[in-house]
Amino acid sequence: MVYILDHPLITHKLTHIRRKGTNTRNFRTALNEIAGLMAYEITRDLPMRETIVETPMTETSTLELSAEVVLVPILRAGLGMVDGILGLIPDARVGHIGIARNEGTLKPEPYYEKLPERFHDAFVMVLDPMLATGGSASAAITAIREQGARHIRLVCIVGAPEGVERIEKEHPDVNIYLAALDSGLNHNGYIVPGLGDAGDRLFGTK
Ligand code: PRP
Ligand code: URA
Repeated sequence: MVYILDHPLITHKLTHIRRKGTNTRNFRTALNEIAGLMAYEITRDLPMRETIVETPMTETSTLELSAEVVLVPILRAGLGMVDGILGLIPDARVGHIGIARNEGTLKPEPYYEKLPERFHDAFVMVLDPMLATGGSASAAITAIREQGARHIRLVCIVGAPEGVERIEKEHPDVNIYLAALDSGLNHNGYIVPGLGDAGDRLFGTK
């Protein structure tokens, strides 16, 4: 399933990062803010358990989160979504997967992997601002699955129909969350209208 989280606050901030004149500092801030707002929606169905607390007035039964949350940003651009989500879920553990898309073949080339131990039952959010051909996200999900994770959600900011189709085909049980579904890819495999190269805009490398 693909969910488009087009809350006005998310869409407003997305407009800001699409604008080519937005500088690195403002791009970084808004990207984290969008990720936090999206996480608020995506975690709506997280399991809860009962707990007893002593308030200043009395003892009462209430609820707390029972699932562990693990964030897995796809390097580099996924890093730009981590702090925004950790602001809401500070106990989340963070794994990293490095994948560079080969600009000639558009194939994913994995170069780094460090995932948390014992995360079979965790609620895993794979983070990457861009879902273009879907090759990078699909390779990341496969790697995470191989380490035993079972509850995986893919969180991207902008997606192309090609990428959505690929994830739905290769990982039919993984829900996809986007701030926007764009028209498609250009001849270089970039999302149109998109926001350009997310990693370069986030880190100011071009
Ligand atoms: C970008 C983006 C995704 C990937 C999307 O990363 O952040 O990971 O491309 O393309 P795909 O869906 O066709 O695989 P890139 O490889 O440019 O690396 P970077 O984050 O280091 O800039
Ligand atoms: N990677 C990006 O950073 N942007 C795109 O539009 C496609 C892939």
